This record gives sequence, C-alpha cells and structure tokens, in this order.
Amino acid sequence: MRQQILDFVRRLAGTKQLRESIEALTQTSATETVERALWMVRQEYTVMPRFGFHQPLDYNMDTFPPRFDDAVFVNGVELPLPPPPERMGYSDDNSEYLKWGKYDHGLLMGQIEKYLGHQEGLSILDFGCSSGRVLRHFWQQKKSYSWKLAGVDVQARPIEWMRQNFPTDFRVYVGNTLPHLPFEDNSMDVIYGFSVFTHIKYQWDAWILELRRILKPGGLLIQTIHTENAWNFYRAHKDQPGFRKSHSSTVLDGGEMNIPFFYYGDISVSQVFWKRETARQYWGRYVDVLDILPPPPEHSFQDWMICRK
Ligand SMILES: C[S@@+](CC[C@H](N)C(=O)[O-])C[C@H]1O[C@@H](n2cnc3c(N)ncnc32)[C@H](O)[C@@H]1O
Repeated sequence: MRQQILDFVRRLAGTKQLRESIEALTQTSATETVERALWMVRQEYTVMPRFGFHQPLDYNMDTFPPRFDDAVFVNGVELPLPPPPERMGYSDDNSEYLKWGKYDHGLLMGQIEKYLGHQEGLSILDFGCSSGRVLRHFWQQKKSYSWKLAGVDVQARPIEWMRQNFPTDFRVYVGNTLPHLPFEDNSMDVIYGFSVFTHIKYQWDAWILELRRILKPGGLLIQTIHTENAWNFYRAHKDQPGFRKSHSSTVLDGGEMNIPFFYYGDISVSQVFWKRETARQYWGRYVDVLDILPPPPEHSFQDWMICRK
C-alpha cells in the first residue's frame, strides 16, 4: 500500500529531479515518507512552479506572522542583525556576517564612486536582497547623503524580517521570478545583486531588460555571475559539504569550462555559468558592459558584471 501511494505521489511530480528525490526519501515511517513526498509535490505546484516562483510566508488557508528568533544586537551597530536562521547561510558568527556585508558594500561603493562620482540622493535597489546582508550597510549613505534604499526578494520570510526590524526607510518588498518590478521607468541610479543571476536560468534576458527599464540613463547595473572562475573553484573544492548536492557532476567532475554557458538544476537549486566572453556578448545586447571584474580577493568566487544603461 505504501509503495502504491508513493508511486502515485511520484507520478504527480512534474520533473525528473523531483521524482528522483521522492525515490530517495529515507523517512522512518510510511506515513512520514508519504507526508514528505506530498509536501515536496505541493511545493512544486504551489510555492515554486517551474517558471515563476515566489515563496510566500505560508500557502495554507490561515497565515500567521512568522515566528523569528530574537534579532541580534551588537554593540555599536545601529541596525539589528537577523538571527542566524534568517541569514540564508551567510555566517552565523555576528562579526563575520557584518564583515562580509561591509566588504561587499565597500566594493560596490568603489564602483559607484568610480562611475557616478560622489552624489547626494542616489536611488539604489538591491535585487535579491534577502534579509539585508549588504543593503543594511547603505544606511550610512541614507543618513548622510539621503540615498534612497530599496530591496526586493522572491522569499517573503527575509523581507518580512526586514519589515519588522529595519526602519521604514528601507523600501523592501516581495517579488517573484517573472521579470517585472513595480518601479517607474528611469527611477534608479544603481541596481546591484549578489549571487542572484547565478541562479536565474529562466528569462535572464528579460530580467536584464526589466532592470534596464527602471535604471536612469547612465545608471549602473552591477551583478555577480558564475564564470570559468566559479567553475574552477567548484571543481577544485568538489568535496566540500553541500557542493555535490547543489552542483552538477558536469562541473565538479568534468574538465575546464569549454561551452559558452551551462544551466543546471531545477526548482530550488539552479545554477548558471557563463564564459566571461559569452556574458560580455550576451549581456552587451541589452546594456553597455563596462567591465567584468574577476572575483574579489575575499569571500567570493563570482565575477562582477559592471554595466551601464
Ligand atoms: C544566494 S542568495 C543571495 C542573497 C543576498 N543577495 C546576499 O548576497 O546576501 C540569492 C537571493 O536571490 C533571491 N532571488 C532569486 N531570484 C530572484 C528574483 N528573480 N527576484 C528577486 N530575488 C531573487 C533569492 O530568494 C535569494 O534571497
């Protein structure tokens, strides 16, 4: 009976990957296995349909505010830190978490000053902001130079955390994976994103055009991507915990990247790799590619696309 139910649930799964994941379930009781399999299928159809997903707080009939662990307060730091479960895997250690975000903020500031100069009142958007790991560090620019701060993420939970814990000047909201943002044409000076286009395999081109639409003429688009550099990094570290689960054996066990691009995965784990020259050509159809920076010395193995409208 258990097998029959599981076979039935498996047939509901829309993708090979999900069918295989259901086959691999190792829950102890039959009921738990079936419950888990049903949960996975429900996720596929409701939370993350294949081509446009959005992770709401709760997809049951009654939705209550999510329960978060207490926010973390650090001496001398004005904004609270998200508790570790709300950090999306970015360090559980408070000072590391702050240092990493500050480092990325510093690199962004370098590019903004280089291309836009030092300006009052810039409007910036963190595309895929999560719980504000990087956006939080622009609070200083908001206070000193009246910068306007916006953030969007497809996951409702980190956005809800920010709504409850950050000042209302952070204009954050939940988006989805369809290329549409509720901002006016020509309204942003800078749009940046860390590790977001590394996962966008559907409609990446329409996303670039949507981001271009809301950028002011001359505005900056800064996004990290996986190139040959990330490919080589993963190959070299293939035995690190978690890498096997989130990366294809084509990357981990194959040779050098010798194809223009490679998309891997589905639903919850997708990875996108571009050869640097392919990214320059493909992105260059939609925006001016000013530079492709190699991964910075610390914290990351992703290249930076520096583009202008
Ligand atoms: C690897 S995480 C990085 C989070 C954050 N940028 C950081 O560096 O701390 C990628 C984030 O992008 C978000 N994301 C992916 N596709 C998105 C889309 N189309 N629109 C908005 N957010 C998206 C994910 O929900 C996730 O929070």
